[in-house]
Amino acid sequence: MTAAPVAPIELGVELGARSYPIAIGAGLLGDAPRIAAAICGRHALIVSNDVVAPLYLERLENALLHRGDDVLQGEHRASLPGMTVTRLLLPDGEAFKTLASAAQVFDALAAMKANRDATIIALGGGVIGDLAGFAAACWMRGIAFVQVPTTLLAMVDSSVGGKTAVDLAQGKNLVGAFHQPRAVIADTDTLATLPARELRAGFAEVIKYGALGDAEFFAGLERNADALLAREGEALTATIAHCCRQKAGIVARDETEQGERALLNLGHTFGHAIETAMGYGGLLHGEAVAVGMVLAARLSANLGRAAAADTHRLVALLERFGLPTTVPAGLDPDRLIGLMQLDKKNLSGSLRLILWRGVGKADVVPDVDLAAVRAVLAQAT
Ligand code: NAD
Ligand code: GLY
Repeated sequence: MTAAPVAPIELGVELGARSYPIAIGAGLLGDAPRIAAAICGRHALIVSNDVVAPLYLERLENALLHRGDDVLQGEHRASLPGMTVTRLLLPDGEAFKTLASAAQVFDALAAMKANRDATIIALGGGVIGDLAGFAAACWMRGIAFVQVPTTLLAMVDSSVGGKTAVDLAQGKNLVGAFHQPRAVIADTDTLATLPARELRAGFAEVIKYGALGDAEFFAGLERNADALLAREGEALTATIAHCCRQKAGIVARDETEQGERALLNLGHTFGHAIETAMGYGGLLHGEAVAVGMVLAARLSANLGRAAAADTHRLVALLERFGLPTTVPAGLDPDRLIGLMQLDKKNLSGSLRLILWRGVGKADVVPDVDLAAVRAVLAQAT
């Protein structure tokens, strides 16, 4: 039997009636009352993939199926007669974050005869979370969903904030919706099975939080890199919580990215272009973001907005976490610029990027000079 969770860290995203809790800690997949409390309706559809499901699906299902037994009594039990739990397993990988996969979720919901009385539970990394959340946003114009992130990247970033999407061949996350989950339940025990490369990719988004707005946190990562890479529980849980707190604050102030939230995309316009150019199968998302942050820092230095020493510090930290810092060979700068021009942050065809003034200070910069962007890409390939 799974041990009871020990004092998880509890946070919240404050969005009025759509506020929701974030719990981070060991053993939460076995926390039946917490999981049951996050579900509403008669149907629960767990969406996962063929890598994560063999590891964790049964634990989650066991917790869910306690519902209506001895775990929840009274009004919860009475309000949910005959809840069904169904699973849908998708193939693994970014290449399956598609409309075709979303259609599979819709087919599963239809087969369950679900209407709005259903909750989708996303069990997996950011790919599953984005896709399942997107399907939840679309089904009958929006049903509940719960994020159960199992990668570092998903715990620190994608499970929080309600951005859901699928990719097109033309670009990443081009079709999506803002749709907040009802809860985020991050069981840090799941990180034990995460491949080392995936763990490192998650640290790119962790470093991003320091780079864009928290110099002290950035310095803490420089000091604690060894413990974090060794997956030391306390250091890792505190780091995840720090990132979630920072993101929750930004999302509460700017849910739909009218301003401040765009800062969370530091490195992403470059990174998404690299991912798309490589056909979603070369660099991992976090790795592409790492390269993208270096490009944004270098561009900032070239434009006189930041000291080159800050770029060196960023490169050193990313390398410490085993992350790439140069554009993979063979990617044409003009093709990358073309892909960057399809980014959601752009206005009226001009390039709008997140640049920085050094560690901990980022800005949204409109009308960035294309020649300067081309120069930084040419220098980096
Ligand atoms: P991922 O979902 O592909 O997961 C990485 C790999 O790890 C996969 O092979 C997965 O099956 C496997 N895996 C997951 N959990 C595991 C575990 N506990 N043990 C062993 N293997 C495990 O990738 P990711 O890095 O989690 O997420 C990247 C995606 O997130 C991208 O599509 C990106 O666009 C998206 N994203 C979204 C947001 C947002 O705000 N919505 C933010 C950042 C990134
Ligand atoms: N990952 C960027 C955001 O959630 O806004």
